[in-house]
Amino acid sequence: MRSLLPFHDGDLDDEALTAAYAYPRPGRIPVWWLRANMVSTVDGAVAGADGRSRSVSSQADRRVLRVLRGLADVVLVGAETARTEGLGPVRVRSALLPGREGRGQPPAPVLAVVSRSLDLDLSSRLFVDAVARTVVVTSAAGPAARRARLAQVADLIVAGSDEVDLPAALDALAARGLTRVLCEGGPTLLAAIVAAGLLDELCLTLTPSLVGGGTGRILSGAALATPYDLRLAAVLEEDGTLLTRWQRR
Ligand SMILES: NC(=O)c1ccc[n+]([C@@H]2O[C@H](COP(=O)([O-])OP(=O)(O)OC[C@H]3O[C@@H](n4cnc5c(N)ncnc54)[C@H](OP(=O)(O)O)[C@@H]3O)[C@@H](O)[C@H]2O)c1
Repeated sequence: MRSLLPFHDGDLDDEALTAAYAYPRPGRIPVWWLRANMVSTVDGAVAGADGRSRSVSSQADRRVLRVLRGLADVVLVGAETARTEGLGPVRVRSALLPGREGRGQPPAPVLAVVSRSLDLDLSSRLFVDAVARTVVVTSAAGPAARRARLAQVADLIVAGSDEVDLPAALDALAARGLTRVLCEGGPTLLAAIVAAGLLDELCLTLTPSLVGGGTGRILSGAALATPYDLRLAAVLEEDGTLLTRWQRR
């Protein structure tokens, strides 16, 4: 993998990638730092015909995703992504563990799932295989009976009366020491994050293919009232995959 912006002549190993994607130092994070990571084909598809993002991903994309997960305190996903992708707890490669230890982080980031309906399978890997208990972020509108059942297998954060109040949810995660946030989508959650003005940084991978079809874009839902302006911070490349990084202007 090579860096096109800033230009760096040479191969980037995992150590160099970890340094390149480092979160701002804790003292320089206001409360939390919200980075999102998404992948799309050149024609903008965020999922393949099977409805999953893996089929539009690439080796380079997955490598950077592993590095990003290795840096995060918490991986935040929308419930539909958890359901569609059959998400399990996040694991971090052994080579990245000393770095986590050095930053005072436990061996793996916590997984946090945002859901209003609480329609989540309690027997799924998400809960059964979790080393650190999975966090479910919901609102007061979540059905009480489901909430009680979920509380047996997960930690709950209740923020907001109808939709999840995302700033309050991020504050609640930060109160648990989870300030380095990696949002892995999906497009509905990411759109809500952007609409609330909460996105600090977007890592967007473009994989070198065209797939057509009707899958959505990286943000779905209503148009934003005003465009969210970004500044291009970095571009990496491997085998035609472009790994771009954008920061809020
Ligand atoms: N290409 C990529 O990088 C990428 C990344 C992730 C996912 N994907 C793909 O995107 C698709 C899934 O994305 P999606 O947009 O349909 O769903 P999503 O964003 O993953 O999840 C949407 C769900 O999250 C909950 N949610 C989100 N924001 C909320 C809020 N403010 N308040 C309360 N609940 C909230 C709701 O859950 P409840 O329904 O439980 O109430 C909502 O239905 C899949 O095809 C997946 O493979 C692609």
